[in-house]
Amino acid sequence: MQAPAKSLSYSVFMTDGTGEIRVNVEKSNAEVACRFLEKGGIIYFEETPFFISKSDREFLLSLKQNKADHTKNIAYRPAQDRVTGLSKGKVEDTVRLHRIMADFHKQVYRFLENFLPPYSEGWKADFATFRAIEEHGRKMRLRARNDLLHVDSFATRPVYGDRILRTFLNVNPSQKRVWQTTDTFEQLLKTFSNQISEPGPFKSNKNKNSLIRALAQKMGFKLSGESSYDEWMMNFHNFLKENAEFQEKCRKDRWEFPANSSWIVFTDMVSHAVLSGRYALEQTFIVSQDSLVLPQKAPLNLLRKTYGLNA
Ligand code: SIN
Ligand code: FE
Repeated sequence: MQAPAKSLSYSVFMTDGTGEIRVNVEKSNAEVACRFLEKGGIIYFEETPFFISKSDREFLLSLKQNKADHTKNIAYRPAQDRVTGLSKGKVEDTVRLHRIMADFHKQVYRFLENFLPPYSEGWKADFATFRAIEEHGRKMRLRARNDLLHVDSFATRPVYGDRILRTFLNVNPSQKRVWQTTDTFEQLLKTFSNQISEPGPFKSNKNKNSLIRALAQKMGFKLSGESSYDEWMMNFHNFLKENAEFQEKCRKDRWEFPANSSWIVFTDMVSHAVLSGRYALEQTFIVSQDSLVLPQKAPLNLLRKTYGLNA
């Protein structure tokens, strides 16, 4: 049995254009929070529920990330208990960063277990990241750019219709992290479904070739034909980033996350772009489609409905 969630207040920013911003929602009912998230809300904590000591924060702000193009962020991989992406430097730095990121991972895990218990039944902890590079003016190839509006999809780690839930903490003591959002996945699908070919049958290869898949993931390369859901989502992610007219003309909301705030969001439903900011910690969970409170809002089921697919 899960312990009942302690009372804790948070705000919800709806990103579907309804203009709805609810402040001070009392966290008494986990299902209410799940419903907000699955409809395209960002749950926002003005003061983060996660603790990073002052000296660890100062240490994080002193770190240099490996600048290679494929290294988008410094990452902690919980399954392998390993940190990647830090520039070569002192061994003590690597050890300290590892300790901080493993601890952040554990804190988010424990917090979400209590805050969103329906999801913890069948979730998988994905990477935690440290985002040490200033996002404003960051040079990236177009499809990797964070400042263009998109919904998330992973190139090398298929989710087969499970959901991408991300928890952020702005550890920068003086600078906000600024996001922009436009319509939700649900709305974008309505707008663009006739411009994109329908997905192939959603046969799940989830339990097949797991050794080959695990190896491919470890090496960081993509297995094609593995998941038509993930292929469609990746194409959609690219389509949005490459669509200059959409990027320029779409409705936009701006969200500012100040120092020491946290926010939780399904980034496969909430479109987003980060316009500026530096030094954020983030933890991703892959939430099983079986544990959703509003399964009809899951991108997989929206795609099934839109294209009349039974599989
Ligand atoms: C992204 O997922 O596109 C980036 C979000 C962020 O780093 O704030
Ligand atoms: Fe993203």
